[in-house]
Amino acid sequence: MENYVLSDGLRLPKVGFGTYLLNGAQGVNTIVSGIQAGYRLLDSAFNYENEGALGQAVKRAGINRADLIITSKLPGRHYGFQDAISTIQESLYRAGLDYYDLYLLHWPNPKRGQYVEAWQALIQAQKFGLIRSIGVCNFLPEHLDKLEKETGVMPVINQIELHPYFNQQSQRDYDTKHNILTEDWSPLGRASQMLKNDTLIKLAAKYNKNVGQLILRWEVQLGTLPIPKASSPARQAGNMDLFDFVISDGDMSIINSLTKPDGRSDNQDPAEYEEF
Ligand SMILES: NC(=O)c1ccc[n+]([C@@H]2O[C@H](COP(=O)([O-])OP(=O)(O)OC[C@H]3O[C@@H](n4cnc5c(N)ncnc54)[C@H](OP(=O)(O)O)[C@@H]3O)[C@@H](O)[C@H]2O)c1
Repeated sequence: MENYVLSDGLRLPKVGFGTYLLNGAQGVNTIVSGIQAGYRLLDSAFNYENEGALGQAVKRAGINRADLIITSKLPGRHYGFQDAISTIQESLYRAGLDYYDLYLLHWPNPKRGQYVEAWQALIQAQKFGLIRSIGVCNFLPEHLDKLEKETGVMPVINQIELHPYFNQQSQRDYDTKHNILTEDWSPLGRASQMLKNDTLIKLAAKYNKNVGQLILRWEVQLGTLPIPKASSPARQAGNMDLFDFVISDGDMSIINSLTKPDGRSDNQDPAEYEEF
């Protein structure tokens, strides 16, 4: 698999694996199968209640831990400095890990006004060696500007909702300008009607790929890192099989034109939406 290199030097595969809703024994089996299919970047969160399942899958998959990029996220209810440090430690105990490769603030929750304090905790946890790289999810330019102004440290990654119906052109431009890698959540739009879009179906046939592969390849060609979640080994393998074709500039523009101002899956605008 091809790689991205973050501004702090961490090397990441261009496609990762989402684990939302992969819990318990079935979740462990699905994550093991994902690792065995070849995924090396795994995305989890304290709030998914599956850091334990993820850690169990890592033990069972028979892959050297050092070859994996393991991600978790700090939930908004633990954004106080000391609370955040304890939560990161708890997150590690749950997964049975000594460190996370990536640890992200899950939502800015701007009305609460605590994300700078939580960011300072991530900076400190990185110094302690609990975390290799630190980043955020769902941060808008105004939130990122504030982090830089108040701490002097910019995230290396911003994980945001991104798919053909919501392509995040302006946030991507901001991220690129600030050396922040954009990582895409719900890269397949949560398997919504979008996968039945006529334009996408026609373009996928043109490249002899399925719609999921067309979309994920488009996201990689945008310079972003999609983290699709898939349950079956066939889909898991298919969603990584993106590196034997190139979407033409003209077809990239056609897919870019499908974006809509209200294209978010669930109306979760980080300026307003809060999650704890
Ligand atoms: N930071 C945040 O705020 C945030 C928010 C949401 C999600 N995330 C992360 O992003 C990850 C991915 O997002 P997501 O799980 O919401 O949605 P997604 O990856 O866009 O879509 C997952 C759905 O697509 C189906 N699917 C997978 N591959 C397919 C294919 N090739 N063709 C058709 N359907 C396919 C899956 O079905 P099966 O499982 O049945 O295969 C599942 O129902 C999450 O798992 C989570 O790790 C982060």
